Amino acid sequence: MNSTENKMERYAILGFPLEHSVSPKIHNRAFNDYGMNAHYGRKAIHPDEFDQVIPRLKKEDWRGFNVTIPFKERILPFLDWIEETAKAIGAVNTIKVENGRWLGFNTDWSGFLRPIQEELPEFRRCLVLGAGGAARAVTFALVKEVKPEVLMIANRTKKRADALANELRKFGTCEIKTATPDSLEKTGVQPFDLIVNTTSVGMGDLKDQLVVEPAHFAHANTLIYDLVYKPPLTLFLQHAQHAGLRTINGFPMLIYQAEEAFKIWTGKPYLPETLKALLQELGLEQGSGG
Ligand code: ATR
Repeated sequence: MNSTENKMERYAILGFPLEHSVSPKIHNRAFNDYGMNAHYGRKAIHPDEFDQVIPRLKKEDWRGFNVTIPFKERILPFLDWIEETAKAIGAVNTIKVENGRWLGFNTDWSGFLRPIQEELPEFRRCLVLGAGGAARAVTFALVKEVKPEVLMIANRTKKRADALANELRKFGTCEIKTATPDSLEKTGVQPFDLIVNTTSVGMGDLKDQLVVEPAHFAHANTLIYDLVYKPPLTLFLQHAQHAGLRTINGFPMLIYQAEEAFKIWTGKPYLPETLKALLQELGLEQGSGG
């Protein structure tokens, strides 16, 4: 007889703040649709208490976690093993607990690629705006899977773009260039086939700002991809649509990185009806226009 057979499996998201996180809604729907005895909650941890709270959590009975801002890098020293891709990106957003060991993964990079999977060979020239944590996952995905001819990283702080470019050169053979948004035009590399905004410009207090004018660096078939999903239609995407360009917001990536995490925990993909409902219903609920 196994006393753990009917025990509820516990999962949670670790971050701060977490009031607006939709991850519980996403994963609980998937657990529910499968009829699994599992629950996904929120574990908001004040950044000052992170180093004390994590060792305590490691003694408790958890099956897995997602890790979000501002802890994707701070979690690394607490993990017992880190998968190669996550190590290369330098950030973990998914933890699987196996026999008490915390195993770290990154599903942001594959989540980013899933909505554009069919088009990957067409992206020969890519522009990534930003050089922070999100840009690391995106540029890593591009270098590893898309292998464009040219990858341009444009960041306000050029030093940060240069440092990221240097790291990426170890993982691929594509030409990697850097610029600031202001100097981008002078590089003469445009037009790009794919332009991705990974910065926080377009959300919160920065909702009325643009890093660059998308149409300036695009051709008629360029895909404009903004990782922001709140608001669903950023100023960047509004300008792109106004210029007749194709757009995608960060909402599908949010769902797909969650599904990749679910696969790591359970070995199963989301049920087709779960995926459909999440992409449609939750997308609409968020007011998705992308
Ligand atoms: P994340 O993990 O979400 O990527 P981050 O590591 O803090 O967060 O990175 C934020 C990114 O947005 C950076 O590329 C940042 O540019 P800097 O490296 O110059 O700071 C960019 N960013 C934030 N605010 C910006 C602004 N007002 N204009 C242009 N870029 C901005």
